[in-house]
Amino acid sequence: MENSYLLSLQNIPYHFILIDNNTHVHSIIQKKCSDFNIHNITTLQCNIQDFKDNFDIGISIHACGLATDFAQFQCIQNHALFICCSCCVGKIQTQQQSIYSISTPRSKWLNNIIQSDEYFQLCQYADHNATTTTHSTDFIIEQQKRYCKSVLEWDRCMYALESGIYDVVFMTRVIPYTEDPNHSSSASKTLFNSPKNDVIVGVPKHWDDSTKKAIKQAFAIP
Ligand SMILES: C[S@@+](CC[C@H](N)C(=O)[O-])C[C@H]1O[C@@H](n2cnc3c(N)ncnc32)[C@H](O)[C@@H]1O
Repeated sequence: MENSYLLSLQNIPYHFILIDNNTHVHSIIQKKCSDFNIHNITTLQCNIQDFKDNFDIGISIHACGLATDFAQFQCIQNHALFICCSCCVGKIQTQQQSIYSISTPRSKWLNNIIQSDEYFQLCQYADHNATTTTHSTDFIIEQQKRYCKSVLEWDRCMYALESGIYDVVFMTRVIPYTEDPNHSSSASKTLFNSPKNDVIVGVPKHWDDSTKKAIKQAFAIP
């Protein structure tokens, strides 16, 4: 996690719990919080799906595959605002869904349209490469992958709406991916930001209208 993320959190008057199941990642974040003397962050090395406390807002950033669904599920269980910027989706088929009550497709909407095997094909096709650029000769294929990914994100949105807990749910993208034409290597291009920038947001019904409006404005949603 970037230092700037951590430093910006310390000025917000809330308590944050940062979760990652990787020992190495966890110890890095723990050390940074200690070095920066940040007091409103607790770090936890555990699976998102095993987290047991209550919370009001859940944010997942590049949680791999089903981990994004686990994060959204935790939010729905807690009637919490969710903001999920997902990651790779290609391995969803191989992840163990049944243990954690996660079934795919997520929504009744998509379940009524496609079969399970078609869903896994969609996941594999939607797993677009972070280094592929719009200068690619396979630009049309890249766009198709983007559309497939959007279907998966919309499936997650529909799942939230079907829960009856949310009345404001939307799908957007943050920090549009821009290439640096002066750099030819894909490594330089990806320094700018990630094309994995699909974001889904759900605001619970019980939140007040002015907060809902402010959240939509923050994401430039009319
Ligand atoms: C692509 S990295 C993103 C890291 C970080 N969120 C960021 O944006 O810099 C994905 C991280 O998710 C963690 N992860 C994957 N599945 C998880 C799960 N089920 N529970 C908790 N952490 C998980 C991995 O250990 C890894 O550090």
